[in-house]
Amino acid sequence: MSKVTIKDVDFSGKKAIIRVDFNVPLDKESNVTDDARIKAAVPTIKYVLEKGAAKVILMSHLGRPKGKVVPGLRMDPVAKRLAALLGEGVEKTDDCVGDRVKERIETTARRVVLLENLRFHPQEETGDPHFSGELASLADVYVNDAFGTAHRAHASTTIIAKSLPSSIGFLMEKEVNCLSSAVSADKPYVIILGGAKVSDKIGVITNLMQKADKFIIGGAMAYTFLKSKGEAVGSSRVEEDKIELAKKILEDAESKGVKIFLPIDHLVVDNIDNPKTKDVVETIPQGFMGVDVGPRSIQLFKEQLKDARTVLWNGPLGIFEKDSYAQGTREIAFYLASLSGVTVIVGGGDSAAAAKKFGVASKLTHVSTGGGASLEFLEGKELPGIAVIPDK
Ligand code: 3PG
Repeated sequence: MSKVTIKDVDFSGKKAIIRVDFNVPLDKESNVTDDARIKAAVPTIKYVLEKGAAKVILMSHLGRPKGKVVPGLRMDPVAKRLAALLGEGVEKTDDCVGDRVKERIETTARRVVLLENLRFHPQEETGDPHFSGELASLADVYVNDAFGTAHRAHASTTIIAKSLPSSIGFLMEKEVNCLSSAVSADKPYVIILGGAKVSDKIGVITNLMQKADKFIIGGAMAYTFLKSKGEAVGSSRVEEDKIELAKKILEDAESKGVKIFLPIDHLVVDNIDNPKTKDVVETIPQGFMGVDVGPRSIQLFKEQLKDARTVLWNGPLGIFEKDSYAQGTREIAFYLASLSGVTVIVGGGDSAAAAKKFGVASKLTHVSTGGGASLEFLEGKELPGIAVIPDK
């Protein structure tokens, strides 16, 4: 890693402001339902404290409050969960900038402070330099450990680094190292793509087409590809305006000798929420839609994964949130977890949720905490939150 990391910084007696990505899901009672992102920030927080920082000031966004105070998006449930994970009290402030916040930081006996949701201020997302200056004035040094938000050039992720000595934290470093191993991967390299839209994955396909040996495509995006080959897709979800693009991707792959494997059978239903008929078919009939890949496809996909040295998985193969449509995603997740000596990288978002749901996350090489950020990284884009940190 060429960037300055927290290992290069003297934290002794200093106030460190750390951008973390605590944008976590909450239930109706405001309980954190998945604390993976909070857990992932703990090593950096503990390290900075161990190195003698006077205060660790954490800042994050939560949801998309659009520049206004939204009571349901306050950081209090996150502070509670973080305190439990750290085993010490966390001082939660009522705002993220201003004299009262400064005073709380000065007077609290606690070592860890969590600022209120940054996105309650519109200046966060516009990258306002005055706002980032106010955040910077709370501390002596800045650390960016928010990989999940590194693709946003916001005040707290990017602009602030121009006003304070800056470094990246352990999570950011790990994400960059692991996702880099999916960009320049050991071969054979197999990429599994799923999820709803071809359009979300175009950049990844084009960037990694040169590097991968095989693509396995499932999820709703597979129906756009199948339709582009003239296959029947019934009423499955198709991006009509991406059919030509799908066709071109298949042609490009063929000319480059990259194999693309699409489902050869499907679990279909007449209605997603209240199915009267549910069947496994090879040709999707009119009035039916695909909701998962079928057993022969699962077998075919496992065959393709058997000799891989590197696997990148981005996107579920069916509507895995519903147990009755989860078999394809579940079986492939278990199969990936059973492979030994293989680097398996999960590119965040829904596939990370699936790996967690099926209990395999800890058996895979790396499950990214980034959704959009990991996609942009895998597309080969420079992420502003990383680019702004000085090189060693
Ligand atoms: C995410 O959940 O992908 C990050 O926290 C970024 O959130 P955003 O898409 O609202 O900027």
